[in-house]
Amino acid sequence: MREQLEKLQRDAEEELLGARTDEAIQAIRTKYLGRKGALTSILRGLGSVAPEERPAMGQLANQVKEALSQRIDAVLEGIAVSKKDSRLLQERVDVTLPGRGFARGTLHPITQVTQEICGIFAALGFAIAEGPEVELDYYNFEALNMAKDHPSRDMQATFYITENLLLRTHTSPVQVRVMEKQKPPVRVIAPGKVYRPDADISHSPMFHQIEGLYVDRGVTFADLKGTLTFFLKHVFGDEIGVRFRPSFFPFTEPSAEVDIQCVMCRGKGCRVCGQSGWLEILGSGMVDPEVFKAVGYDSEEYTGFAFGLGVERIAMLRYGISDIRLFTENDRRFLEQF
Ligand code: PHE
Repeated sequence: MREQLEKLQRDAEEELLGARTDEAIQAIRTKYLGRKGALTSILRGLGSVAPEERPAMGQLANQVKEALSQRIDAVLEGIAVSKKDSRLLQERVDVTLPGRGFARGTLHPITQVTQEICGIFAALGFAIAEGPEVELDYYNFEALNMAKDHPSRDMQATFYITENLLLRTHTSPVQVRVMEKQKPPVRVIAPGKVYRPDADISHSPMFHQIEGLYVDRGVTFADLKGTLTFFLKHVFGDEIGVRFRPSFFPFTEPSAEVDIQCVMCRGKGCRVCGQSGWLEILGSGMVDPEVFKAVGYDSEEYTGFAFGLGVERIAMLRYGISDIRLFTENDRRFLEQF
């Protein structure tokens, strides 16, 4: 019986070596250690063993059973571990791979220039004001001394919504809205979108303006010149030449257009400045008494100056951008440069 038991152990161990799956191993357990298995049938012969040897045989049978059981558990455990290892290997993430970068946005060049200009005027004590883009005819024209039949309305082609409602053609209506609400002294800067039915490489149906207004006792044309010269040198550099040219706007008197020396040719004359050496950069003037009358200011007591500038134009000159449409195409190759 001893040999039988030892052979059973050897056979079972050998079979275990070839078993690769849980099922195959469980089958070996049943075959050798199961209720109807090989060990049970060997032990049935225990009756024919000499009585004095029986305890030893019983002990040996238990040892064999115990040893095989442990081997089987160990092999099962080994299979589970290697299964897990191969799963982990498959799921492995290569943490040394470079990360996927995500593009970080920047402020639009128009926003940047607007913020810069507003910042310069804020430092001079100007507050930011805003008004609606869908505006009443009254604020856009009438209160600015442009009556319905006034030929000066031709200066600004207009998108009308109804007879009395339109897309504002300039930021000047904000002047009127501010003065209606506030007594002098007034120092405001009003950035915003404006609209005119016009489109080519230097005109866009929507563009941005910044309006400035300064009203108080004793404000003179010298204040206008000083403030605007300071501002333009801040934006375009101390060396830039600045000149004031007489002009006309219905809501300022006297009026002046302000030119800077051409930033491309430094005044020599080139294609950008039409050989003149100068670039028109903004409109300005002393607030017309008619506008003061519309908002209930006493023009004997108060004077003021106002100006309006195009943000796209300044950005184009500043960065050498030749087509205004680039600002609204949202091409990242363009935008990423700012
Ligand atoms: N609103 C004028 C324009 O758009 C500019 C301007 C503003 C002129 C204020 C004088 C004073 O052309």
